[in-house]
Amino acid sequence: DWTPDSFVETTIAELKEKLGNDKVVLGLSGGVDSSVAAVLLHHAIGTNLHCIFVDNGLLRKNEFESVLDSYRHMGLNIKGVDARQRFYDALAGLTDPEKKRKAIGRVFIEVFDDAAHEVQGVSWLGQGTIYPDVIESVSVKGPSATIKSHHNVGGLPDFMKLKVIEPLNTLFKDEVRKVGKALDIDQNILGRHPFPGPGLAIRILGEITPEKVQILQEADAIYINNLRAAGVYDKVWQAGAIYLPVQSVGVMGDERTYENVICLRAVESLDGMTADWCHLPYNLLAKISNEIINNVKGINRVVYDISSKPPATIEWE
Ligand code: XMP
Repeated sequence: DWTPDSFVETTIAELKEKLGNDKVVLGLSGGVDSSVAAVLLHHAIGTNLHCIFVDNGLLRKNEFESVLDSYRHMGLNIKGVDARQRFYDALAGLTDPEKKRKAIGRVFIEVFDDAAHEVQGVSWLGQGTIYPDVIESVSVKGPSATIKSHHNVGGLPDFMKLKVIEPLNTLFKDEVRKVGKALDIDQNILGRHPFPGPGLAIRILGEITPEKVQILQEADAIYINNLRAAGVYDKVWQAGAIYLPVQSVGVMGDERTYENVICLRAVESLDGMTADWCHLPYNLLAKISNEIINNVKGINRVVYDISSKPPATIEWE
């Protein structure tokens, strides 16, 4: 019978056998899958696993530092790469969602390739691919589509010529979480909402600027912290704030303001394919709205998205 403990035991033994003294490079995202894959590999081959975590400047507030910190506490051999400016430069002037995704995918591959080249004698690429990724081969919006479009332009980056090792490719998401628990991985990582690879870039409608990213990070942090404090975070499948490219009139003291709108989104779902908007308590929404408007400069209005998928999608871009 399948149990998380037996999976952990046999997988580590198999990885040891297969990898021997070989080196593996793996990109960590802060998400559940790559984290669990990394910890399994770490148990099998220790510091021969070289993890890379890229700050694309599109993560949640303080996410890079705090996630890097928890990975280090787990003993992982990890390199954090600050590539924020490279991503902002590539995104400058882009407004089309698919163009933004492609630019982010392209820069990620370049940055990851540079970092992977610093690992001498590496022969494997570790990945957190899970079974549904294998069978569905990811939606058009997903990272593989971006990688494919990159191939057509310039040939394979070197890390993509490595042999691939995917310790989770027989598991479903709930099994990955159970395995993560058996490996004692922090609940802060295991219980994390899904977060798209292009990050806040697809939650800022229109052009990305570092200023807009900062505004959205502040608003999103207030939102997520309130969901946690109210004990609602774990009941919601995914939540996040969206920066709308709309200005509206407001009033502050005697002054008329003309500022941007933040939209809050929270959904219940099993797999992201369909989703219902969450009926968050009005008093919680009121508290979040007040805190955002009173504390985030440049925002004078907050709205709540009451659309389900289909026909709306979870993300706005
Ligand atoms: P949609 O917006 O299609 O989202 O209803 C369904 C799930 O997919 C995530 N998503 C992405 N994840 N790269 C990703 O890694 C992307 O480009 C992307 N677009 C959407 C979304 O956050 C939700 O969990």
